[in-house]
Amino acid sequence: MADDILSILDKRTGRTYELPIQDGTIRAMDLRQIKTDPEDFGIMSYDPAFLNTASCTSRITFIDGDKGILRYRGYPIEELAENCTFLEVAWLLLKGELPTQPELDNWIQRVKYHTMLHETTKKFLEGFRYDAHPMGMLVSTVAALSTVYPEARNVLDPEIREIEIIRLVAKMPTIAAYAYRHSLGYPYVYPDNDLGYAENFMNMLWKMVEPKYVANPVLARALDILFILHADHEQNCSTNTMRCVGSAQTDPYLATAAAAAALAGPLHGGANEAVLKMLDEIGSKDNIPAYIESVKAGKRKLMGFGHRVYKNYDPRARIIKWTADRVFEVTGANPKLEIALELEKIALNDEYFVKRKLYPNVDFYSGIIYQAMGFKPAMFTVLFAIPRVVGWLAQWQEMLEDAEQKIARPRQKYLGYGERHVVPLEKRLAHAVS
Ligand code: MLT
Repeated sequence: MADDILSILDKRTGRTYELPIQDGTIRAMDLRQIKTDPEDFGIMSYDPAFLNTASCTSRITFIDGDKGILRYRGYPIEELAENCTFLEVAWLLLKGELPTQPELDNWIQRVKYHTMLHETTKKFLEGFRYDAHPMGMLVSTVAALSTVYPEARNVLDPEIREIEIIRLVAKMPTIAAYAYRHSLGYPYVYPDNDLGYAENFMNMLWKMVEPKYVANPVLARALDILFILHADHEQNCSTNTMRCVGSAQTDPYLATAAAAAALAGPLHGGANEAVLKMLDEIGSKDNIPAYIESVKAGKRKLMGFGHRVYKNYDPRARIIKWTADRVFEVTGANPKLEIALELEKIALNDEYFVKRKLYPNVDFYSGIIYQAMGFKPAMFTVLFAIPRVVGWLAQWQEMLEDAEQKIARPRQKYLGYGERHVVPLEKRLAHAVS
């Protein structure tokens, strides 16, 4: 194969430059040598929203958007969802290999040991309004944990990183469940460490006065699969936030709170909540054609379809659709599912959406499943954040261990005013300000 070299001719000067190509990328810093004169700053790459910029080297998750491939540490997501539990996959993402039985047993015990929250943290949660959005409560409470575990600031100490990672993986379900119970005015349910990860989460959500909560095994497995599917997704918006904030050596609780704040956005983790609002707006299958026309007219968005990376079917959507069928066998037919299935059928056969690669993504079905399981839409992004904390922490850890990484500080293309001078207040004329 010809040398991995990119040859660039700068017609402003007639000079040619040869930039090495490594793993399908060129180093942006190699562009800086391209100048018109020695005083020139040199060429920068310009990439709003990082559509074509690799911010890091990672060995955690691989996505092929054209082929609809998603692998964690090389394992296809389909095989992991079928053969593993969420905590097995969490170990894989964090450690790089699937655990042996002794490793898994020890990992489960260590996570179980840290499911409780300090009583002061419960009191912190009590300060929220009765109708506080659970994501606002989750982001704030995760940040507050940085005050409970101040030693977490020692981010360069692998042993301290390990214990803080376990605490976050263990406590996310507890915080999420407490936020849910707070929104209902129900007493909190303490973790029951006889139960598995998903079962214990259900226990803290739904246990009432029965002596021992017994989780429906189909729903528990469905949650576990949903957690696996949502655990990581390479450099998505919230993971990029985790890496950016973490690059300043901020403690993992504050960095995770920042990542969760990004996930709360309706264009990111909040998309599944937006899907339910869309289905509610459609109201019935008969209204779908009119809604489709309003989407084509640009008056509405088709939530839960399309993806920045996947240009064909989101592999997670296939698995979630199978999971949805299992859940609805337990919870009963879901009218929103009927609308969703009809919407999907129409969209997949309509040239307008096919041409624009608008296929159902992971959010399209996850919201319907969560709603069928009894969650309010405001909880959907919280359910996304619980497993995604594993991906955030795996990527955060990889960033800290990467010798190439330093504090994230992008450049800009400045098109504002050149130098100008202050006019005394009494002499200033009104400017048309936008
Ligand atoms: C995710 O799983 O984070 C979403 O699909 C968004 C993304 O990957 O950009």
